[in-house]
Amino acid sequence: MSLMIRPIEQNDVEICGKIGYEAHKTISFAHGYPSEQPSEEFGIRLIRRLLGNPNSWGVLAERQGKTLGSIFLHKFPPSPVAVIGPLTVHPSAKGGVGRMLMDAALTQARKQNHHQVRLVQSPSHIRSFVLYTKSGFTLREPLFLMQGQPLKGRNNTSSANVRLVRDDNDISVCNEFCKSVYGFSREMELRQAKDQGVAAMIERDGVITGYAAGIGIFGHAVAKSNEDLKALIANASAILGPGFFAPARNHEVINWLLENGFQIGWPANLMTIGPYQEPLTPFLPSLAY
Ligand SMILES: CC(C)(COP(=O)(O)OP(=O)(O)OC[C@H]1O[C@@H](n2cnc3c(N)ncnc32)[C@H](O)[C@@H]1OP(=O)(O)O)[C@@H](O)C(=O)NCCC(=O)NCCS
Repeated sequence: MSLMIRPIEQNDVEICGKIGYEAHKTISFAHGYPSEQPSEEFGIRLIRRLLGNPNSWGVLAERQGKTLGSIFLHKFPPSPVAVIGPLTVHPSAKGGVGRMLMDAALTQARKQNHHQVRLVQSPSHIRSFVLYTKSGFTLREPLFLMQGQPLKGRNNTSSANVRLVRDDNDISVCNEFCKSVYGFSREMELRQAKDQGVAAMIERDGVITGYAAGIGIFGHAVAKSNEDLKALIANASAILGPGFFAPARNHEVINWLLENGFQIGWPANLMTIGPYQEPLTPFLPSLAY
């Protein structure tokens, strides 16, 4: 029987959420990691939230009216990057469903003129690594989800001043800094973090040397030096969500976090399609990219 792809509707939220939970639970259990989707309710809430987001586009795969999996594609204007995730397929589905969903999302990305597509992959999930590689994604950066308590200023060895991002002027200075590091601004995510009161920036002798759109799984950060990145982390009043991603290759920052009581929750991989400029200074990626 043929596999069909169609847009996700309100009626599909529950089944797509349950499949997401089931798919992650099965693989995480097999590898002994905590599941990224800790409960069915989490999975359902996630799909409901994404379906209500005008910047997210989602489709599901079904065979004979039976839902087998779903995928989402997100945009973050003005960032040129489109992001894929979550992609989940029920463990009982026969192979090929993930590939069909991925093809649909990449076709949609091309329609939206997004030549840069990114995602954060769980390396223990070999099926997804193979699928993403065969779909054209390249592994760019191994990551670790760092879990721990906020340091609230402890072990901040930097003399620089960390303060909240307050207004449009702050946003525009941070955007310029982001462009110099990433090649483009991540204004939408920064604005959302500012509105939630979790965006912080670091100033040294009147010059902005970094910012964090929240220290947490949905936040990214960029800084001129590891010293400044550590100061942004050290001054965060909260770690948002289950932790935050740090590039595994940044020995200095990972080691500093471990010395400060942080633990590694799970590994992840930043993977990309299309042009990719490796960030030119220390950074923390979000769950998106
Ligand atoms: C990842 C996931 C979406 C893949 O869906 P799927 O329908 O199983 O994927 P597909 O069958 O289309 O593709 C998997 C590919 O991996 C290949 N594969 C699997 N294990 C392999 C291995 N050890 N070595 C080489 N290839 C392997 C399969 O043969 C298939 O390739 P093919 O189509 O060319 O034969 C699904 O397994 C899932 O939901 N996992 C849990 C959640 C998850 O990990 N999501 C992604 C988060 S990063």
